[in-house]
Amino acid sequence: MKFFVDTAEVADIRSLVELGMVDGVTTNPSLIAKSGRNMAEVIAEICAITPGPVSAEVTATEYEGMLAEGRFLRQIAANVCVKVPLTEAGLRTCKTLSSEGTQVNVTLCFSAGQAILAAKAGATFISPFVGRLDDIGQDGLELIAEIVEIYANYPDFTTEVLVASIRHPIHLIQSAKLGAHVATLPPAVIRQLLKHPLTDRGLEAFLADWKKTGQSIL
Ligand code: E4P
Repeated sequence: MKFFVDTAEVADIRSLVELGMVDGVTTNPSLIAKSGRNMAEVIAEICAITPGPVSAEVTATEYEGMLAEGRFLRQIAANVCVKVPLTEAGLRTCKTLSSEGTQVNVTLCFSAGQAILAAKAGATFISPFVGRLDDIGQDGLELIAEIVEIYANYPDFTTEVLVASIRHPIHLIQSAKLGAHVATLPPAVIRQLLKHPLTDRGLEAFLADWKKTGQSIL
């Protein structure tokens, strides 16, 4: 399973790259706004330290504008993946950009039907938002199960399921059980996955016992 980091904070990405946990990065207009940075500059910086695709989202809402923005964004770096919303214009832009060899992430997916359309438009990634579905009383993970099952029926669908809007470790673990290809995780969730109180307590006890021996390994 690939791990993308869902942030535009360069320091967070850098430390998670050093940990070996980053296969790619996703950003969106809200995350860029939160970073307080110029979009092209921060995307270039993220691309330079990220080993895989970096999603940069268009903000135009009609086809010509989306296409122009997508073509601008993709020349920032070879690993830019243009992100488009799941609208009619977004799907049309996806079809054009993917036929030009550009990676495209179709975002804001909330139904299996939308995911089928994105696959037919040649999306590299489809981003179903699990947390936002949970927020309105629907089962976000059920949507992941449906999309994974549908895509598996059609080997000509090459689109990868990128689980987005992950809020906690259970979203990630269940998505992995379902066979989703990618999860995009806020840095805090990656750190939550790492921590367990029994690991901390166990290490403390081992070190206390080791100290009593008076030995040192080196
Ligand atoms: C994914 O690409 C989105 O940027 C992100 O996962 C949205 O998450 P949120 O619902 O927590 O804003």
